[in-house]
Amino acid sequence: MAAPDKTPARISGMFDSIAPRYDLLNRVLSAGLDQKWRRRAVRELQLGRAPQVLDLCTGTADLALAATEQHADASVIGVDFSGAMLRLALGKVREAKLDSRIRLVRGDATRIPVADASCDAATIGFGIRNVAEPTRALDELARVLRPGARLAILEFGQPRIPGIRTLYAWYFRYLLPAVGKMVSRHQSAYSYLPASVGTFPPPAEFARTIESHGFVSVRAVPLTFGIVYLYVATRLS
Ligand SMILES: C[S@@+](CC[C@H](N)C(=O)[O-])C[C@H]1O[C@@H](n2cnc3c(N)ncnc32)[C@H](O)[C@@H]1O
Repeated sequence: MAAPDKTPARISGMFDSIAPRYDLLNRVLSAGLDQKWRRRAVRELQLGRAPQVLDLCTGTADLALAATEQHADASVIGVDFSGAMLRLALGKVREAKLDSRIRLVRGDATRIPVADASCDAATIGFGIRNVAEPTRALDELARVLRPGARLAILEFGQPRIPGIRTLYAWYFRYLLPAVGKMVSRHQSAYSYLPASVGTFPPPAEFARTIESHGFVSVRAVPLTFGIVYLYVATRLS
């Protein structure tokens, strides 16, 4: 399978276009499971008191909101390069009256606009697959996390149980792109989704990549039959 074009201008333009329908499609296409996956990712961070969390590729801020909802004293900085996604995120943050605790910043995952060792934890929800140079983003995460801090990355995978794998492959390759195209009115964003998942490294390989970029105790945890993987790692001390 040919790797899809991930130039930053293309990816940010794509998310700018689908932003108004992004949350709706997430809920519908995951049958509401997406928020459960995000809450699980936050739990894996094992946050201490008044933590500073980085949510990279924050999009419409669902993971940032989950972190502040689960931890009343957490502060989050959400970074994304799509202006339209960030505008929607800001609306949600203001509506939840969380603007004093969630700060949204426009920036690239390969040049995170945050000081060295300033974060107690970091998350990326369904974002790393879109980054053209994911190892540069991992190097940046290692730079901004303090030693011992936890990283939780959610990314799509492929179910391992044969029957479910076949059924899901049909859903993911045919039904999801059709519904996504109809609702988002974007020609290719929801075909890009299975194409980008298909060329993403298998869980064991991506876990090794995380390990070789400044992290230890790396785990790849399958969620919902492996439709999604949660990668949990600790910044090297
Ligand atoms: C699939 S959305 C995920 C949004 C959110 N984390 C969630 O859980 O719904 C991917 C997001 O990553 C952002 N993104 C992709 N590559 C990026 C990069 N290199 N730098 C910053 N943001 C990026 C996109 O703009 C988009 O908002």
